[in-house]
Amino acid sequence: VRTLKVALLGCGNVGAQVARILLDDADALAARTGARLQLSGIAVRNLDSERDVELPRDLFTTDADTLVKDADLVIELMGGIEPARSLILTAMQNGACVVTGNKALLAQDGPTLYEEADKAGVQLSYEAAVAGAIPILRPIRDSLSGDRITRVLGIVNGTTNFILDQMDSTGAQFADALAEAQRLGYAEADPTADIEGHDAAAKAAILASLSFHTRFALEDVYCEGITKVSAADIAAAKEAGFVIKLLAIAEKITNADGDGGISVRVHPTLLPREHPLAAVRGAFNAVFIEAENAGELMFYGQGAGGTPTASAVLGDLVSAARRVVLGGPGRTETTTGYVPALSIDASTTSY
Ligand code: HSE
Repeated sequence: VRTLKVALLGCGNVGAQVARILLDDADALAARTGARLQLSGIAVRNLDSERDVELPRDLFTTDADTLVKDADLVIELMGGIEPARSLILTAMQNGACVVTGNKALLAQDGPTLYEEADKAGVQLSYEAAVAGAIPILRPIRDSLSGDRITRVLGIVNGTTNFILDQMDSTGAQFADALAEAQRLGYAEADPTADIEGHDAAAKAAILASLSFHTRFALEDVYCEGITKVSAADIAAAKEAGFVIKLLAIAEKITNADGDGGISVRVHPTLLPREHPLAAVRGAFNAVFIEAENAGELMFYGQGAGGTPTASAVLGDLVSAARRVVLGGPGRTETTTGYVPALSIDASTTSY
């Protein structure tokens, strides 16, 4: 069986779980892809940092550049713009398929990266960048590609949904609900990107780009966070039969002259309490889609956390590995006459 070298960049919450699954589930992953996915190394900034998961020490390196150049598949989970951007570009130019969860980078620089992937003939996938474990990007890109999406409404930030839900169910003030979110580990020590809506705006740009076949960047998204939402606002909304949710919205709009466009925005929104998104509680995420032929669809699940987000990363990795095995883009040619073991894994029902 062919071996594909997998380089992992970053070993935070998600990265550590991805490494664990790659090591623990190696046999199942090999059966599903037709290749052994060999974790060739984990690039980190600090070799001595504490990790969530016990991993072999000899996998760790600070030399991300060398690791990337010798990989068939690269998983980027470092976050931030640089050096993630340069490493992804190097990987793709070198013929490796890339899986990333870096929404900030995609929202800022997506077009350059997608172009480079096309030029290099490799797969760049990023299911983990939006709504964690929820399979949402592939359904939009593939399953709905024969339809016309007219509107996407997303609860795509778990921290803010938790805060608003706490305020709604307990009458808490914003500051107290935020403190509770931090205590439970949902919000970062510096929760600015969550509560100001920037994290949701980056995800809105990605959702809108795929849904409307256009390129939206972060600066195209109107963004207002939840810091001004008071307990009194929530109570008034409740009284009138509404719930306040921070929504990422991308929709077709038509003005009085009949001219159209796409509006992409993030802001606290009054939702009727009977809307399916109103039932999304705590730190969960959900994306509600309206399409011309499919009608209404809703995708629901865990939008954050190491293990759930790792699930999305692994899904992308398996898909990229299958393409390489089947003779698609990749660093090396498929062995002539090789038959991948896609249909002979009795333990999986994915085929
Ligand atoms: N801070 C994000 C959230 C994590 O609360 O949803 C995933 O992007």
